[in-house]
Amino acid sequence: MLPDDVSGRRVVRYPVNPGSQRASCLVLFEAEPEREMNVLEKIPALVRIGLISSHQPLKSAAECLRRFLVEGLLRAHIQLVIRPKDVLQKFAMNNSEADETQDFWNRVADDWKIQVGTRGDSNRILNSDPVLWRFAGNVKGLKVLDAGCGTGYLSKQLADRGANVTGVDFSERMIAIARKDYPGMEFHVDSCTSLQTVDEGEFDLLIANYVLMDTPDLQGAVNAFFRVLKPGGAAVLVFSHPCFPQGDATIASGGEVTYHWAFSYFRQKKCVDPPWGHFSSDFIWFHRPLSDYWKAFKSAGFDVVDFEEPRVTEDRYHLADNPKKLANSKIRPYSVAFKLKKSGEAAKFG
Ligand SMILES: C[S@@+](CC[C@H](N)C(=O)[O-])C[C@H]1O[C@@H](n2cnc3c(N)ncnc32)[C@H](O)[C@@H]1O
Repeated sequence: MLPDDVSGRRVVRYPVNPGSQRASCLVLFEAEPEREMNVLEKIPALVRIGLISSHQPLKSAAECLRRFLVEGLLRAHIQLVIRPKDVLQKFAMNNSEADETQDFWNRVADDWKIQVGTRGDSNRILNSDPVLWRFAGNVKGLKVLDAGCGTGYLSKQLADRGANVTGVDFSERMIAIARKDYPGMEFHVDSCTSLQTVDEGEFDLLIANYVLMDTPDLQGAVNAFFRVLKPGGAAVLVFSHPCFPQGDATIASGGEVTYHWAFSYFRQKKCVDPPWGHFSSDFIWFHRPLSDYWKAFKSAGFDVVDFEEPRVTEDRYHLADNPKKLANSKIRPYSVAFKLKKSGEAAKFG
């Protein structure tokens, strides 16, 4: 028999195929960075899904789990999930990309703070922020979810404009930075694909600023966005332009830009770019053709109400750090911006 409460915390059981003699055991374990550094050194992900056993009988899986506990590897929080083997294998496979992406963002979180600071980087300031704010409209008094909030600078800007903001990100390190820099604001560790910390129909407006190209499960995230919006609520989604991969561009001395495609544009593909700027890590992102985004939005139930390819406008030329950045912004499409609506009557959002 498995203990009901292996860690002094909640144990979740999923039905096991009644005919099955041998089942699988999956343990989800979470650790808080500050309290559990020794755990984190041994387990590469801050939140990792560990496959204890996919073949062993439950009893030996339980033994295995107990050993982890005794050795002090798992202390912060444990959920025990028992599932039939086939379900488990699918689950473990689907989550490996999410784990890897989450590890990556934890690794680069401190460098990301240098990248965006408190105002956003120059691409945001010159090109996409004006579109984001135009699509968002007057946020005063709205309940706003900053999905994939990173270090939280946009959450703070939303709060400064009078919104009641919650920021979520699956990177614990990003959230730790956001909480430290903006104490008193609400930030949660949560994945956009589940948004477990958020109730259905809770928000008037959701903003995901440069997140969707970084998340492995596009449809899962968009479905969750739809779920947490009130009827009539809106989503503003800004993400890197999938047609013009900036990491694979060459710029001639005269300024002409050439984009390279090492694979078919129509393929969905996990991509790894070499480090750029001050970053020391490779960058993981996910290519999908533009139409896949459109289809995901429609399939979740959204109406697409606006679309823009942000570019610098004359009134912002003076904000460019240098002539090269200004020239780039004039000719290079860095991002796309969508405004989506969850149709319904009860909207606070206009
Ligand atoms: C390019 S950064 C943008 C961060 C922030 N929105 C900004 O504009 O600075 C992408 C962010 O998305 C987060 N992210 C990616 N996939 C996610 C997911 N499935 N759930 C929650 N956060 C995710 C990453 O941890 C990272 O903080």
